[in-house]
Amino acid sequence: MSDKDKLIQGLNHDLAAEWGTIMRYTYQSGKSFGIAGAEIREILNKEISDEIGHVKYLTDVIVDLGGEPTTEPDKFAKPENLKEMLELDLQMETQDVENYKNHAGMAEELGEVELKVKLEEIASDEKRHAREIRRILKGL
Ligand SMILES: [Fe+2]
Ligand SMILES: [Fe+2]
Repeated sequence: MSDKDKLIQGLNHDLAAEWGTIMRYTYQSGKSFGIAGAEIREILNKEISDEIGHVKYLTDVIVDLGGEPTTEPDKFAKPENLKEMLELDLQMETQDVENYKNHAGMAEELGEVELKVKLEEIASDEKRHAREIRRILKGL
């Protein structure tokens, strides 16, 4: 497999994760109750907009690189408890940061400057999401 194909494969993993995150946050938002739940809904809904932007970008870039963008979301666990829900989200956001950093490195090696910078920006969005989730978790 060429380096470019490896990058396309990596970006498709990111894309499947993003689709899964949009579904997970939408699902969790519907299952968040009470005062803490209201706050969680607000944050998750804001993050959904960011993740939709990530999905759009990754889809366009995979097509531009000559790949076929996935429309299959990653499956996710469905804890009922708010704290366990957010712990799962924090773990996933942290994993996403690492994946984007890796793929930014691969893009740089291929001379894909715009892609490298944009993947780092997405990594920074996920870092912010992780921080917002950590803030709520501290109060639970
Ligand atoms: Fe994202
Ligand atoms: Fe995120």
